[in-house]
Amino acid sequence: MVWMRLLVLSLFHMSLVGSQPTQSSQQASSPPAPAEEQSPLGAGNLPFPWSRLRLPRYIIPLHYHLLLHPNLTSLSFTGSVQIQIDVQNNTNWVVLHSKGLRISKATIVNQNLAHLSDQVLPVLHNPSHEQIGIFSPRVLSSGQKYFLHIEFGAELAEGFDGFYRSAYRTIYCLYASCSHGCCMDVKTLEVDEGLLEDQFDASVKMSTYLVAFVICDFKSVTATTSSGVQVSIYASPETWMQTRYALEVAVKMLDFYEEYFNIRYPLPKQDLIAIPDFGSGAMENWGLTTYRETSLLFDPLTSSISDKLWVTMVIGHELAHQWFGNLVTMEWWNDIWLNEGFARYMEYISVEATYPDLKVEEYLLDTCFSAIGHDSLNSSRPISSPAENPTQIKQMFDAVSYDKGACVLHMLRHFLTDDVFQRGIVRYLRKYSYRNAHNQDLWDSLANCIQLFSGLETCCSCMYCLLQYLFAGEHMDLTAMMDTWIVQKGIPLVTVTRKGPHLLLRQDRFLRTVLPSDGLWSTFFLWHIPLTYKTDASSTTHRHLMTTHTDSIHIGEEVSWVKVNTDMTGYYVVHYEDGGWDEMTKLLRENHTALSYKDRTHLIHNAFQLITSGHLPLDKGLDLIGYLQLETHTVPLLQGLGYLEAFYRMIEKKNDFDVITSFLCVKMYILRFFRSIIDRQTWSDGGSVSERRLRSQVLSLACHLEDPPCLERANQTFKDWLQSNGTLNLPTDVAETVFSVGARDDHGWRSLLHTYNISLFAAQKSKVLFALTCSRDTNKLHKLLELGLEGKVIRSQDLSFLILMVARNPRGHRLAWNFVKKNWDTLVQRFQLGSSCIGNILISTTGQFSSPEELTEVQLFFESIKDQASQLRAAQVALDNVQKNVRWFQRNLETLRSWLNKQLQ
Ligand code: BES
Ligand code: ZN
Repeated sequence: MVWMRLLVLSLFHMSLVGSQPTQSSQQASSPPAPAEEQSPLGAGNLPFPWSRLRLPRYIIPLHYHLLLHPNLTSLSFTGSVQIQIDVQNNTNWVVLHSKGLRISKATIVNQNLAHLSDQVLPVLHNPSHEQIGIFSPRVLSSGQKYFLHIEFGAELAEGFDGFYRSAYRTIYCLYASCSHGCCMDVKTLEVDEGLLEDQFDASVKMSTYLVAFVICDFKSVTATTSSGVQVSIYASPETWMQTRYALEVAVKMLDFYEEYFNIRYPLPKQDLIAIPDFGSGAMENWGLTTYRETSLLFDPLTSSISDKLWVTMVIGHELAHQWFGNLVTMEWWNDIWLNEGFARYMEYISVEATYPDLKVEEYLLDTCFSAIGHDSLNSSRPISSPAENPTQIKQMFDAVSYDKGACVLHMLRHFLTDDVFQRGIVRYLRKYSYRNAHNQDLWDSLANCIQLFSGLETCCSCMYCLLQYLFAGEHMDLTAMMDTWIVQKGIPLVTVTRKGPHLLLRQDRFLRTVLPSDGLWSTFFLWHIPLTYKTDASSTTHRHLMTTHTDSIHIGEEVSWVKVNTDMTGYYVVHYEDGGWDEMTKLLRENHTALSYKDRTHLIHNAFQLITSGHLPLDKGLDLIGYLQLETHTVPLLQGLGYLEAFYRMIEKKNDFDVITSFLCVKMYILRFFRSIIDRQTWSDGGSVSERRLRSQVLSLACHLEDPPCLERANQTFKDWLQSNGTLNLPTDVAETVFSVGARDDHGWRSLLHTYNISLFAAQKSKVLFALTCSRDTNKLHKLLELGLEGKVIRSQDLSFLILMVARNPRGHRLAWNFVKKNWDTLVQRFQLGSSCIGNILISTTGQFSSPEELTEVQLFFESIKDQASQLRAAQVALDNVQKNVRWFQRNLETLRSWLNKQLQ
């Protein structure tokens, strides 16, 4: 075995640090010379000339000519860049971003290539803003173009940012190496003996954060799309066999997007590459999308149906960015939802179209539930929020931008119809191609399509659009409507009451942690809600745009039930007052198929949200899910089961003897109630995607709850697997459960650690790692955390997942929290303040605390890292969560206990 190196350069993290995502040469206006530019004092004693994080707008980069020369022996690189600039104000300074580079030389020449100075120019550094300033003794004149030439060098980075090194272990040793860039065509020249230079054509006009290079000896598979784009999947030689599925997906997706957006993919090729050390899940660099191995590789023998779905969705996401994000980039990071919310939503549209069997629409509700989870806490933020410094910008990549963004788009699409929505976004993409855009530009493009439809056309589908438009009122103001969702935080709670033939409606902000009686309630929030509802009186979905705090709808006397927010296409929670929930419970028990599976899931979700907020007693929710014994659809089943599991997991982490009896009762109740569903599951990979997903989750929970038949089967299968020396192919959807049970004894755990160490399958490794974290031996859990910190056997890229999984284990929960406190500085250094990793670590290790003492403990820790915690929204989220849990126990434990006693008698 030898270790092979590869190098990855992603400008994303460098560009995050305050630079404009602006596409080069796009800033059209030339503002007056800003006060922020300070006049130089003279050579040798120059103060840094610029005080802002964003760069001056009066120097416009037109073209970058970049040379990089990495050295894999010295683990360093040198390089040079020539930037053509358009100067729009007289100035002596060029300020640009640079992080961690040694600048060895800077010169400026004019259009005629004459040097502006016969000396090397002074370069000033402002590391806190990650900027350098280059001083030209001769004024750069407004209206002129110049060439700036900079030579630089640095060590190849460790970690996942900038130009960093990654490594993989191989039994082969390949010497050929090649480089991949957001390359256009590439030409290879021998510039020195044994030194090859790859020369890339000029790119299309693009934002700097989308540039990436990878230098490696990977193998690839290639195919061509119907419009002639060459698609290649790259992976290390040993994992190369796992690239086939990604190739099929990527080709289909590119074909789909070209048709859906009605815009050709502008580059001749698209490379997708699986990188062994990768900080996030994937990145959309133009023409060279980069992935962690689990996001791209698929192995039929070890990847489960969920792994397959994940790979498909990640590719759908990154390829959507080639249009949403790359072709049109948001003006500034405050509107990153225009990239991420759209890409998340396009995952659903594209996978639905290309892989209908995956039934991806079943997962959209989960995305919306995740959004609501964040948005119903006080610590939430508007989708579009100010973000200036790197820490703030990194935190924009959260559930609000991604999940709420996607759900709000889903609501908008339903409101406008598919046709208007699609035409509107095509219009937006065409109009702003190779440029930057604001939210307003999107609303204008969509509104323009509405007008077009309502005014002129008469075909059937357009008539439908016209009706939609009219229902919204003659002068529907799309911007006013969308602003209530984009620039206002939170989610509305619509309370409905039946009064004779009317349905009375009220809207308030929905918060899971306070009640109206707490005095914190605010009616200050107001949304334009495209409300929908269904009744037993007809099969149509009725619509109503609610723009005021209270409202009423005539539904008629003869209606016996009303279900609001049909199929949860709207982003709002619904509360049925005055016995309304009893009616829903009755309906579900007597005739649950009168409602769609989405409506049933939505009711379960709403009920449990309202329980947490104190609007509904727990026993009502538990009664509501009593119908689940009749349920055959995976989605509502998993939703209901998920709440029971969540209660169990919260209770099992309590050390309190008093609570332990409830813990046993919940366990008994779940096993008894879901007995026939558990017994129905087979230990195989057969069936539809939904069936496979249900099987995987139900069996995993059953074994976690110590269900004897489940344990027995898992143990036997694990034994067989051990005996076969790991060569036996386990059913992929239950492999994780088999490993988790096997990891309970010492020998099993050690064998699994060995498997983890040698496996070449990322999908298998992540299942094994999960299993290792299920051990009940705290020494073993401790060892895992230490291995994660060391970053050799368990790569650093997996540390946050590892901490999260150890924290899920009742034996590892405290251990994980103490580990985070002890190693806080190292973790921040490795993952950076504001990153999703740091956020997830904080939220996951505190997420199950539920006593006032634990709340104080978390507060004390945040106090001790005040400078950092005060900048982190995740710290607020963590505190909100613990407070919510404390309340949950105060409010619900007694009810849970007596309800369970009644059921178990
Ligand atoms: N643009 C992001 C990648 C990113 C975000 C890198 C924030 C660094 C910081 C990319 O398109 C993305 O959203 N990746 C997701 C995976 C995807 C399937 C949702 C990620 O990395 O979590
Ligand atoms: Zn993305």
